[in-house]
Amino acid sequence: MDDRTHVLDAAAALARGELVAFPTETVYGLGADAFNTEAVARVYAVKGRPIDHPLIVHVAGTEDLGHFAEPVPASALRLTEALWPGPLTVVMRRAGHVPAAVAGGQPTIALRAPAHPMAQDLLEAFGGGIAAPSANRFGRVSPTTAADVRADLGDDVDLVLDGGLCRVGVESTIVDCTGDQVVVLRPGGVTAEALEDVLGEPVGGRAGPGAPAAPGTLDAHYAPRARVVVAHTVEEALVRATEGGGRAGVLLPRAAEVPAGVALLVADDDPAGYARLLYARLRRADQLGLELLVAVAPAEEGIGVAVADRLRRAARAGA
Ligand code: TXA
Ligand code: MG
Repeated sequence: MDDRTHVLDAAAALARGELVAFPTETVYGLGADAFNTEAVARVYAVKGRPIDHPLIVHVAGTEDLGHFAEPVPASALRLTEALWPGPLTVVMRRAGHVPAAVAGGQPTIALRAPAHPMAQDLLEAFGGGIAAPSANRFGRVSPTTAADVRADLGDDVDLVLDGGLCRVGVESTIVDCTGDQVVVLRPGGVTAEALEDVLGEPVGGRAGPGAPAAPGTLDAHYAPRARVVVAHTVEEALVRATEGGGRAGVLLPRAAEVPAGVALLVADDDPAGYARLLYARLRRADQLGLELLVAVAPAEEGIGVAVADRLRRAARAGA
């Protein structure tokens, strides 16, 4: 079957209330018809996700905002016109006819138009909103390939569309557009600078320890089984991995000589390359059975902010 046939099959499956995993430019999503409350309930069940953790509804574009949100704030309109399709999720007040279940009972709704061509084809063929969390079991690392989805969800997902390795590799940036100032709830594929360029004013809640969190954003979402420690330099990482005891590894932006017995996982010097490989490397740490993973984050600029955020959360999850 060619991609087109797969996409049409997937759209038909969604319309029947089935679950479809599909590629986006960030991570793979586990999709259901956003207006089918039974299908949405199955997403929560398959993921093992608490029902008060809201889902993101994926839409084709800005023209869909008014169908799900009431009112549509000017900030959301400007941001989505400039940055959709892309790794940006906007939170607005939920329109009355949109089921509360999809939003985990929140009075708001999170919307995103993904840029992956297969996701766009699927949205066009389906013709409605697709509610989709990342296609992993609750508390596991997000999938960036179709094989990751199958390994994690097995037969619990009716159909998996294969769109290759996700180009961005970390989840979308989530912004709250319900207040006077746009607030970043989760850093991701769109940088705070890009948001500020569009808005012409500062955004709130830039990543950092005191930053507001989106409901349902748990640190454990982004953690491998190994205990994660973040080191500032390669030298520090090697020392800590050696001292750790047990099966230890390091995750570095570039290759380095490591002591015998320490596993070497290499991401990329460039923050975008690091983001693309991050979850594959965390999965690798699980496959190697590592008990300790000492990571050196990329430079905290651009998408490096989101990578550092995920590594910090992973470190807190095991703390
Ligand atoms: O890149 C992404 O955003 C990926 C792909 C599949 O689109 N999706 C994703 O979904 O990361 P998930 O379920 O793993 O994370 C969605 C997060 C929730 O944990 C929650 O924090 C936030 O989005 N969220 C959803 N609805 C919200 C709402 N109404 N208000 C605030 N935060 C919300
Ligand atoms: Mg997730």
